[in-house]
Amino acid sequence: MKVVETIGAMKRVRLELTEPVGFVPTMGYLHEGHLALVRQARAENPSVVVSIFINPTQFGPKEDFDKYPRDPEHDLALLEKEKTDIVFMPSEVKIYPPQFSSWVEVRKVTERLEGASRPGHFRGVTTVVAKLFNIVQPTKAYFGQKDAQQLVVIKKMVADLNMNLEIVTIPTVREPNGMAMSSRNAYLNPEQRQAATVLYKAISLAQRLWLRGGRDAEHMRQEMITLMKKEPLASIDYVSVADAKTLDELDTINPPALVSLAVKIGKTRLIDNVVLE
Ligand code: PAF
Repeated sequence: MKVVETIGAMKRVRLELTEPVGFVPTMGYLHEGHLALVRQARAENPSVVVSIFINPTQFGPKEDFDKYPRDPEHDLALLEKEKTDIVFMPSEVKIYPPQFSSWVEVRKVTERLEGASRPGHFRGVTTVVAKLFNIVQPTKAYFGQKDAQQLVVIKKMVADLNMNLEIVTIPTVREPNGMAMSSRNAYLNPEQRQAATVLYKAISLAQRLWLRGGRDAEHMRQEMITLMKKEPLASIDYVSVADAKTLDELDTINPPALVSLAVKIGKTRLIDNVVLE
């Protein structure tokens, strides 16, 4: 496994890789969710590149950029075990030099849900992901379903800008108690971890309603809200039942529909989702 820290070095090692190249962009502090992406990339490609870069432009001024968990040594040990070929770990100034002034912005699908709650977030995500795609030149890039809106936005960017790669979606990896794996779970104390299972309970309820024939989106939202309000540590940001491609809220549920939610447990904001098909 080679660790490269500059864009020039990444482009040079890229020339030596056997095609096709699988790419997993991450912000580090790796968990089983990330490793599922790396394993899929490993299974489908002779060459695997993983990036570790905590992207400052996707964090709002009051968000957790400064305290976002970091453990590069542990990350590298995990990636070595998964037989990663290249780890790209650029510094902030390499990605955003002082004269940097270009942004990639996807409209419409970025305006609701996470986009509404976190202004500027997706502009940061699409800009860094476009830069990483340009630097790494992958054949396929792997993203987790956990960040459902991010996937919709990145697929739209790739289609709209005719980027020459395939986006592969990997199902959400969950802890034994149902919680979606996330680097931000590290912020939770044991009592909050227990409270955080309310997100999974809510999306499981939505899934059950759907399987029993429930097609009324507002009824589904209200049932999920009622369930989550019973958890005193949870404060709901949004509950959405939307078209899985356009992210427009639905009245009547037509598959595929994305049921997604954002909930704060203490100061930690968590998201989760399920696709109704
Ligand atoms: O999903 C993430 O970890 C980040 O948003 C990504 C795609 C690595 C861009 O910084």
